[in-house]
Amino acid sequence: MEDNLNSDYKVGELIYDANIYDGLNTFLIDFQFYKNWMPKHKNSHVLELCCGSGRLTIPLAKSGVNILGVDNSKTMLAKAKLSAQNEGVKIDFIEADIRNLDLINRFDLIFIPFNSIHHLYHNQDLFSVLKNVMKHLKDDGILIFDCYNPNMDYIIASEKVKTKIAEYNTLDGRKVQIEQTMKYEYNTQINRIKWHYFINDNFHSIQNLDMRMYFPQELDSYINFMGFVIIHKFGTFEEDQFSDKSEKQIFVCKKSI
Ligand SMILES: C[S@@+](CC[C@H](N)C(=O)[O-])C[C@H]1O[C@@H](n2cnc3c(N)ncnc32)[C@H](O)[C@@H]1O
Repeated sequence: MEDNLNSDYKVGELIYDANIYDGLNTFLIDFQFYKNWMPKHKNSHVLELCCGSGRLTIPLAKSGVNILGVDNSKTMLAKAKLSAQNEGVKIDFIEADIRNLDLINRFDLIFIPFNSIHHLYHNQDLFSVLKNVMKHLKDDGILIFDCYNPNMDYIIASEKVKTKIAEYNTLDGRKVQIEQTMKYEYNTQINRIKWHYFINDNFHSIQNLDMRMYFPQELDSYINFMGFVIIHKFGTFEEDQFSDKSEKQIFVCKKSI
């Protein structure tokens, strides 16, 4: 059966322009959660999929975690390498698409933080990633990832208005303002978000930030079908149980065999 998906789902280049990304995403509310779950034994190996500019990778490495970062954006990885160098930590970064990952190493923990799975638009994309996680995880290894719990009230309200969501200055000296619009596609579960960028007070461009929504029962089943057991499903980074009101779905999984 053909699926309903267009072929043009994407994330615009400016979204992952590393300085624009870093200027917007200065928070670390998820850091302590991920740090607490890092393996404690010596010689353990951790893999971060979709590491981006190293927002979590670098502080985790600084705290002593032996971590390898993978991302498919050159500019995000270049910034990650530079920041690691500036912070005096040695981290290996690999440019790769996580759907086709093939490394020799096996890891004690693999994590995919900060909503990154919303960029996997087709079911097959998610299945490929989970298959690759299975391949790269040690038998007693742990998989952790987080994403949104689709909030239809928020989406429906946001479709009606253009909202200013950010205004800040980047480290390379640009004043950035972002306004957001969105249109949810009910047949594909893809929220077609558009960020309207103003740079130095002039309109610059409209950039797509398409996000595939994963509904809770659906995602639980995919994880199980792909050979994982969900050990915990949290709704916050303070590890509150996932519930009706949860903004996030935060999974801690292990292999089912
Ligand atoms: C929301 S950002 C998260 C970055 C970082 N982990 C953080 O917490 O700030 C998502 C990242 O996923 C990367 N990405 C998206 N699809 C990818 C894919 N198929 N393979 C590898 N990286 C991907 C993007 O380049 C981007 O850096």
